[in-house]
Amino acid sequence: MSGLSTKHETVLIVDYGSQYTQLIARRIREQKVFCRIVPPNRLTSETLAAEKPKGLILSGGPASVYQPNAPLPDPAVFESGIPTLGICYGMQAMSYLLGGKVEKAAAREYGKAAVRVVREQGLFKSVKRDSVSWMSHGDSVAQPPAGFVVSAQTDNTGTAAIEDPVRKLYGLQFHPEVVHTEEGQKILRNFLFEICGCSGEWTMASFVEEASERIRKQVGQGHVVLGLSGGVDSSVAAVLLHRAVGKQLTCIFVDNGLLRKGEREQVDETFGKHFGLDLRVIDASERFLTNLKGVEDPERKRKIIGEAFIRVFEEESRKIKDVRFLAQGTLYPDVIESVSAWGGPSATIKTHHNVGGLPADMKLLLVEPLRDLFKDEVRELGKLLGLPDDMVFRQPFPGPGLAVRILGEVTQERLRIVREADARVDEEIRRAGLYRSLWQAFAVLLPVKTVGVMGDERTYESVIAVRAVTSLDAMTADWAKLPADVLERIANRIINEVRGVNRVVYDISSKPPATIEWE
Ligand code: XMP
Repeated sequence: MSGLSTKHETVLIVDYGSQYTQLIARRIREQKVFCRIVPPNRLTSETLAAEKPKGLILSGGPASVYQPNAPLPDPAVFESGIPTLGICYGMQAMSYLLGGKVEKAAAREYGKAAVRVVREQGLFKSVKRDSVSWMSHGDSVAQPPAGFVVSAQTDNTGTAAIEDPVRKLYGLQFHPEVVHTEEGQKILRNFLFEICGCSGEWTMASFVEEASERIRKQVGQGHVVLGLSGGVDSSVAAVLLHRAVGKQLTCIFVDNGLLRKGEREQVDETFGKHFGLDLRVIDASERFLTNLKGVEDPERKRKIIGEAFIRVFEEESRKIKDVRFLAQGTLYPDVIESVSAWGGPSATIKTHHNVGGLPADMKLLLVEPLRDLFKDEVRELGKLLGLPDDMVFRQPFPGPGLAVRILGEVTQERLRIVREADARVDEEIRRAGLYRSLWQAFAVLLPVKTVGVMGDERTYESVIAVRAVTSLDAMTADWAKLPADVLERIANRIINEVRGVNRVVYDISSKPPATIEWE
């Protein structure tokens, strides 16, 4: 499915491999301007003709312009009249190609730097004269190209910002997209609205209308099936599709027996009863548990669960008449073309299977209505479509469910223990008002027993580990410094209310080197 650029004013971000590229995109979307990230080799005259961007942003990146094979845009881009902002490496590439001088900086600048505006126009219109900005560079522009003037400086860099207002070319040595850059938002807004002439019309309300129309066009009279997990993405996709094609959508919710307390009932209540979706709730828990019998290895558990899911999903989909489409809640970060020359995909630590695997021989066509959206936009969309906050702000939950939170074999009894313990963690975290500030909080059942004493009795029972982390994207995570009284209540409740547990420990490892889940 193609993007929305034909209808929306679009800014193209050319990704030279900066760790901040997605952040640039999110900052622009926050200003209600649609943008798309493209790899350097897509910055061609064909792309520009097709997308008709209102502006271009050349991102930062690890390369140096003098390095062999450094990725450089075709200089013709700078004569196209499209307003262009080069950030860090992007500014250096622009300067180098237009005849300026780029050098190793006398002093590398990493971190906060005091920036002084020397030309209060263009990018710096109404921007404070002195402010703090975030720098991270080894090279810098020693001499701007002809036609450019310096618009900001730091103590180390005479050219913290440059511009050529005639050709509408702008360069920033610092990163406006990073929160540490005090005036970053204002600078980006100046670029978007004053220089590119954007109007800021990318709203979720307009998205709903367009996406619905697009879905109807793609699907025609065909029938769509969607694997609903109850997570944010599949939930929002389901409601959006239902709005677009009503009864032509069937959602399949597979109860694999590895769900949290009350999860199945909540999905049934929200989607079946409240939204009136054609929802098939399939109880396949016995099948999953039978397949998992005796299995202790985490990766084998994942594989077994993934395969069983696809089989159940396929069996159920085949019962739907005329099914031709498979809908998935794929998001934009999953589809951004990566910059392979500057950092390939990282090694697989755990195989993450997600709900909605495509049954290969069914030849279903994909419908991915969220593939242009970032997660925060999906949440906004969910709210707009009337999904309860409880679903829109739900913490992530792994596809293999509680199976990867039971170390060792998965049995009914061990599921009961971890499920009940998890419900206590969840309740107390919510009660303390901490739910939304945490990426995840949950219970893990350990494969050890320890000695305890209850009344006058010696006990020999299971240990629950409580895990709570803060994170922005699950790539890194910090253990949450939960207040002692919250931890105390969680521990007391688990030990008193969950039969079979006599000890609770709190996990204080961060990621890396630990991971968020224990398996
Ligand atoms: P880790 O444990 O790798 O987890 O730090 C990072 C994020 O991914 C989730 N996770 C999974 N999600 N299938 C999923 O759909 C999986 O097998 C899986 N394993 C981990 C985890 O909950 C965290 O948010």
